[in-house]
Amino acid sequence: MHAGTAALIDMDWSTFDPLHTQGLRHTLTDHPLLQPDQLVALGKRFQGSSHLFTFNNTAGADANFDDVARLYPNRRSVTDTLQGINEAKAWMLLRHVQADPTYRALVDFVLDSVKSQVEEKDPGMYYRAGWIFIASPHTVTPFHIDRNHGMLLQIHGTKKVYVWDAEDLDVCSEQARECFHSRHELDKVKWDESFRERAHVFEVSPGMGVYIPITCPHMVETGDDPSITISLTYSTEATRRNAMEHVLNDLLRSKGLKPPRVGSHPLLDRLNYFGAAAVIAMHGQGSHPPACPSLAHRTAYAVAD
Ligand SMILES: [Fe+2]
Repeated sequence: MHAGTAALIDMDWSTFDPLHTQGLRHTLTDHPLLQPDQLVALGKRFQGSSHLFTFNNTAGADANFDDVARLYPNRRSVTDTLQGINEAKAWMLLRHVQADPTYRALVDFVLDSVKSQVEEKDPGMYYRAGWIFIASPHTVTPFHIDRNHGMLLQIHGTKKVYVWDAEDLDVCSEQARECFHSRHELDKVKWDESFRERAHVFEVSPGMGVYIPITCPHMVETGDDPSITISLTYSTEATRRNAMEHVLNDLLRSKGLKPPRVGSHPLLDRLNYFGAAAVIAMHGQGSHPPACPSLAHRTAYAVAD
């Protein structure tokens, strides 16, 4: 942090490791775009689009994100949910808020402020996105993995954020990551209560947050108050390589081979990377193996998918 000026995001950059989770502090709590009235307005603008994702809070840590909206529907309207979040017993996500010009400026405001520090260790930031989570008290974000690095910033209420190391293959296997990167399936990312005791646990309140690296499993529980959280995510050259190597390993495994773990053989990873790049170039996104658009195209901002 610079003397006299508070950084938007304050992390210990000397110990920052792109592949390891870390707590942080931020100064976004009072930002006008993150207050309830502005979020209701954004929710209305997103109404009827894929920018909204919601479920009711009977879903537990073991729910599959791919099925959660169908199995645990939130029958309240967007406005009712957001205005009455204290009683709504619901979880609502405003996805890809960078599609809205006002919120794109907020995503850039935050990520521009950390870009140089991030890129000292993890160059090539691209595919920026913003996600805003509004959740009732005592609501669980199911156990899952994400395909990019993310900085989760708590704005209102409290949360308990559980994060597991990517190296902990008993919690999430390499095969689970391969399926996820290749087909975006979470079927092999399975919750078990015994995982809790080996998690990094961050109890966050407004002004606090957590850096969560690519495919580090996580699960979140809100506290006694409604919660507002924004997460800023991005890809880098390294996340792109990591995802592509998993895509190719998935292909090799489908041919009956047993590829070594990504990261265990740097030379093989390099070959895998070029192999995956060729496969993705041949097939394009949306075909087999389907690739996240971030692999086929290095766009500045994530595309809603
Ligand atoms: Fe996540």
